[in-house]
Amino acid sequence: MGLSRREFLKRTAALTAASLVGVKLPFEVSEAEAADADRWVRGTCRFCGVGCRVELGLKGDRPVAIRGVPESKTNLGYVCMKGMLFYKLMLHPDRLKKPLYRARKSESFREISWEEALDIAAKKFAQAVREHGPNSVAYYGSGQALTEETYLFQKIFRAGLRTNNVEGNPRLCMASAVGGYITSFGADEPIGSYADIEKAFCFFIIGSNMAEAHPVLFRRIMRRKLDHPEDVKVINADPRISPTSRIADIHLQFRPGTDLALLNAMAYVIIEEGLYDEDFIRQYATFRVGKKKKEVDFDTYRRFLADYTPERASQICGGNITPDKIRQVARWFATSRGTMSLWTMGINQRIRGVWANNLIHNLHILTGQLCKPGADSFSLTGQPNACGGVREAGGLCHILPAHRPVVKDHLRHEVERLWGVPKGRIPKKPGYHTIAMFTALNEGKIKAIWINCTSPAQSLPNCDKYRKGLAREDVFIIVSDIFPTKTTEFANLILPTAFHFEKTGVFGCTERRSQLTVKVLDPPGEAKPEVWIAREWALKLAQELGDPVIKKCVEPFLGLDEGYDLPKAIWDEYTQKLTAGRDNDLRGATYEVLKKRPDGVQWPAPTEELALRGGTYKKFVRGIDPLAEEHAKDNKPYQFYGPAHPDRKLWIWLRPYKGAAEEPDSEYPFFLSTGRVIDHWHTASMTGRIIELMRANPYAYVEINPKDAKRLGIRPGDMVLVESRRGHNILPAKIYEGPMEGMVFVYWYDQHEDRLINKVTKDAFDPGSKEPEFKICACRIRRVSGPRPLKPYLAQLKV
Ligand code: MOS
Repeated sequence: MGLSRREFLKRTAALTAASLVGVKLPFEVSEAEAADADRWVRGTCRFCGVGCRVELGLKGDRPVAIRGVPESKTNLGYVCMKGMLFYKLMLHPDRLKKPLYRARKSESFREISWEEALDIAAKKFAQAVREHGPNSVAYYGSGQALTEETYLFQKIFRAGLRTNNVEGNPRLCMASAVGGYITSFGADEPIGSYADIEKAFCFFIIGSNMAEAHPVLFRRIMRRKLDHPEDVKVINADPRISPTSRIADIHLQFRPGTDLALLNAMAYVIIEEGLYDEDFIRQYATFRVGKKKKEVDFDTYRRFLADYTPERASQICGGNITPDKIRQVARWFATSRGTMSLWTMGINQRIRGVWANNLIHNLHILTGQLCKPGADSFSLTGQPNACGGVREAGGLCHILPAHRPVVKDHLRHEVERLWGVPKGRIPKKPGYHTIAMFTALNEGKIKAIWINCTSPAQSLPNCDKYRKGLAREDVFIIVSDIFPTKTTEFANLILPTAFHFEKTGVFGCTERRSQLTVKVLDPPGEAKPEVWIAREWALKLAQELGDPVIKKCVEPFLGLDEGYDLPKAIWDEYTQKLTAGRDNDLRGATYEVLKKRPDGVQWPAPTEELALRGGTYKKFVRGIDPLAEEHAKDNKPYQFYGPAHPDRKLWIWLRPYKGAAEEPDSEYPFFLSTGRVIDHWHTASMTGRIIELMRANPYAYVEINPKDAKRLGIRPGDMVLVESRRGHNILPAKIYEGPMEGMVFVYWYDQHEDRLINKVTKDAFDPGSKEPEFKICACRIRRVSGPRPLKPYLAQLKV
């Protein structure tokens, strides 16, 4: 870069701080300009779920820069530092370039040809199916895979191999949000859009440090607040004060796991003070309780809430919560001209994650803060295609493409018919959810697993427990990815894949928006797009098992060029056949339309005409959502046609307060929570390879409240043991008023074995969503030494 080290560090620090508040510094522009690209090609960012529209700068065939696009609907031209730098991964020397194989996990890998790799992959999966049945094989995918990839893999596994063991890492991340939307609104995914941000007057941000995890979207909220400092209120609720709290009018700091009491108490105030929208409730809502979804009346709900007076809730919640604060935020929430709630893992990664989601939705239904401009109950997603690929295209063990529950006979048979496979080909029983899947590995029930574009060896809670299954010699493991990860260390077969802009396909971001990125570069070495790998593997599998139905699954895609025609044909099948008539109808969003509309299309978009106008900004609203028109049963302006609620109502749930699975006690007296830092993304297999990001944040540390640190004699930089009933880390201490007293906080990106915090976290999960409670467990901490020099953490492939 031609900078002195000092200048470089100064710039990196400034850039980090700037990203944090979403400010675009002049040198970001000049950096992109200085790159001297001779052409710019458009696509989306590869990282979080915001779906920023970017342009990749190329000089000849070399990627040299990434910049935002000012007219974009998602990011309005801004990009965070991660987004700005991911072009550096394309030519990174660590990229996997050849298939690697070892028969035994104790051996070294050797390079093999694709022909040999696909033969081995097919033989091993076929052998498992023959000897142990279809449920002895599994696919574990990713919210980072393109929709075309997830769709094709799940088709091959479900209809070809006859197993619903099709899962994905969004189970770890937003399964509770899915459960919440379905049980509260009858349909998955947010009703509104980012565009509501500029129309909102109250933001209720709970369980989300979006300033770091979704910096560019946070910038829009910050802009809204700065433009209207008095009229717009920001409430941030979190046990930890984070950069997100900086713009808050009120920060509610509560004991981890007590948010259900807080949310019920807000509902209590809304009812006690008559702040609810009686008309909206009468027209659109019913009250429900229990497993049987029993309908109850308003008075029963009111009596249920009597346990959650602000006085009682403030005692449960602790922290800085007072009855007056609860009253104040409930009033702002209910009476603003548009309230938008935003949340992520703090709400989802809980043993009562679905309930926590329900209780947020309750507040919106009670107050009618839904469907109108600036009002929405809006769950944020962490991966670029967790919504579009995994939630919508069949990437979870219990859902077929286009939001069809596996257990529903008529929907399953419909999918079989659309695929042209025999009736009964897809099993009725859902497959293993993530924790069950890796438990099945531990128990030797799964004999072959394909892990695509994700790193469970690092990202599973209580990960050492599940690494035992990954390490079993009788479990054959394929890992397809772009870099070595903690998980490739357990592989038998590593398949090198193409990266973003090296293949073509669609990402569907948080706001129901599908955006196309077209291939402009060849992948390095022999790396291949996953759709090619899956197709070729399926053909060999069909031969091995002598099963023409497996071949049938890929027949429509034979002979097509993998750079564009193959993903296009897969997208066409998925959208034209599978989404037709469903709530995520995407028939209008063909590749041709998506190329004309670089900002993509928001579903429902059943026709090209609507898709060319961008699709549907708000679901369920007549005059905006064509399906609301089509499904209209009366003259009401809103039509809640969501497939899961036959009464076409929004459901207000009676959900009691329940704490975390593991609370602090005398042995393990601290709460441990985990989360993100702006410079890194998830397991850092990508961001850990970008030098600017690594210098800004080279290793994880443990954040400790100054009062606790003083009591325990811990000083800044001291090495601290963080230990739970499951494992331990040794991390440098950062002491500041972030986490509340009695709580510590650790980033989970660090791959170094000493600092890999998922060895410590707990794998208890929500009985509804099966999403684990990463966010809360009990731990103890102890100073082990003064500051020590730390080794870089990045795992290198042991070849
Ligand atoms: Mo989530 S990290 O959006 O699957």
